[in-house]
Amino acid sequence: MNIIIRKEQEKDYKEVETVTREAFWNHHSPGCDEHYLVHIMRNSPAFVKELDYVAVDDNRIVGNIMYIETYIFGDDNKKYPVLCFGPVSVLPEYQGKGIGSKLIEHTKIIAKDLGYKAILIFGDPEFYKRVGFVGAQTYSIGTWQNTYAVPLLACELVAGALAECKGRFFEGEIYEIDKEKSEAFDKNFALKEKVSGLPSQKRFLELVSMNKPRL
Ligand SMILES: CC(C)(COP(=O)(O)OP(=O)(O)OC[C@H]1O[C@@H](n2cnc3c(N)ncnc32)[C@H](O)[C@@H]1OP(=O)(O)O)[C@@H](O)C(=O)NCCC(=O)NCCS
Repeated sequence: MNIIIRKEQEKDYKEVETVTREAFWNHHSPGCDEHYLVHIMRNSPAFVKELDYVAVDDNRIVGNIMYIETYIFGDDNKKYPVLCFGPVSVLPEYQGKGIGSKLIEHTKIIAKDLGYKAILIFGDPEFYKRVGFVGAQTYSIGTWQNTYAVPLLACELVAGALAECKGRFFEGEIYEIDKEKSEAFDKNFALKEKVSGLPSQKRFLELVSMNKPRL
């Protein structure tokens, strides 16, 4: 297997949406919205097209990562620009081979070259600690709802960049998915069975519940 990481091109759009759907289907909840998210994200003003990458194996797209620019609203009432990525997806049969880590590490270097100082995301700390993320609470950064949430994770691209950014992270409007539009969009893809009660869904619910007020 010779994985190549390259920029996403317009001709890849449908294939990337399919990869995303395959990766996320039934993962967090029955079905998924992430392929719709990918579809609308490319037209969002917050989208960072310079960080839109795919992983390719023998001309087949097997993974992708996309970023938006957003901010931390500081306790000092200043806005601190940061990046957020997601979705990051790898086809199920290609998972656990280092492709997700490669996509993240590759784009982190480019993000730093572009002048970005930090990345904040919501995700499973057990995976993201492998690629340089720590709990955002380390930097006194909480959610928009002013809680410390275990899945809110941060990665400095420039050492010390988050030291003076205490505040609340704004994930971005793009992640507030219109379920009806997402369901309608999904009809463009092959029918897939929705399944509930999977271990990954239980883990997701467990992670979501892990938060406490930020004082
Ligand atoms: C998460 C994802 C992008 C990682 O990509 P990947 O190519 O499988 O990751 P890597 O091969 O670089 O790393 C795999 C390792 O991370 C671990 N890992 C992956 N997801 C994990 C999770 N949610 N929790 C804990 N460990 C996880 C794997 O068990 C594996 O461990 P091992 O090397 O000890 O076997 C990919 O698995 C995926 O698309 N998953 C479904 C969608 C998803 O959850 N996306 C992220 C949303 S926050």
